[in-house]
Amino acid sequence: MFDISQLTMIYDMDKEDKIYAINSVDLKLPDHGLVGFMGPSGSGKSSFMYCLSTLKTPTSGEIQYNSHSFSQLSRSEQELLRRKEFGFVFQRHFLIPYMSALDNVIVAATDKKEIAISRGIQLLEDFGLKKSDMKKRPGKLSGGQRQRVAIARALINCPNVLFADEPTASLDHTSAFVVMDILKEYAKQHLVLVITHDRSILKDADRIIEIWDGKIIHDQLISVGSKEES
Ligand SMILES: Nc1ncnc2c1ncn2[C@@H]1O[C@H](COP(=O)(O)OP(=O)(O)O)[C@@H](O)[C@H]1O
Ligand SMILES: [Mg+2]
Repeated sequence: MFDISQLTMIYDMDKEDKIYAINSVDLKLPDHGLVGFMGPSGSGKSSFMYCLSTLKTPTSGEIQYNSHSFSQLSRSEQELLRRKEFGFVFQRHFLIPYMSALDNVIVAATDKKEIAISRGIQLLEDFGLKKSDMKKRPGKLSGGQRQRVAIARALINCPNVLFADEPTASLDHTSAFVVMDILKEYAKQHLVLVITHDRSILKDADRIIEIWDGKIIHDQLISVGSKEES
């Protein structure tokens, strides 16, 4: 699904001390599975993920997504790709404080409202939220519930790729595992990329890629499953 070659991302190009956030990375990623990215702070994990999701433009190198080259797409084509094919979860939930949990989930839905509502309810139910919690504003939910709402929002348009940048970093371990179970389930049919500092939450990952100073230093394939029938 992704074919990345010689990807390089340099910050502060015009300054003397250039920062190589990503340094000549080659990588192929399949169309489903849970892939974990690990590495110390500042090693380039987020920059890598943002390049893969078109949020950032690399300095050089190629990213092919389903045979489309990102560099050939206009900004508006990239935006459309993001909206139709990609979902995002971050460490902070970025929920809208004055909207209910359910309204947050469907706010960016591309389907008709009734379809979005029923899918939103289904997702939140699958993630263990009660009907009464769906009506609450984010401020009235626990951290783990808020992150599950954020994941439901990311999945409302059934993205082919889910990008999760430290999705469990602000959660306790129990909530972190609940979130990872949700991501693992979604990864049976889709590609889920998860950045984390915490190896224990990647216990069910299909692949773990370690990044150090902008380079892949270790790429461990744990399982190569075929897509399960749904
Ligand atoms: N907007 C930016 N401007 C300049 N340097 C940046 C910027 N974003 C990240 N960096 C630098 O790029 C390197 C990689 O950062 P990042 O991708 O955020 O790593 P990680 O997510 O692994 O912590 C670090 O040295 C960081 O300081
Ligand atoms: Mg980061």
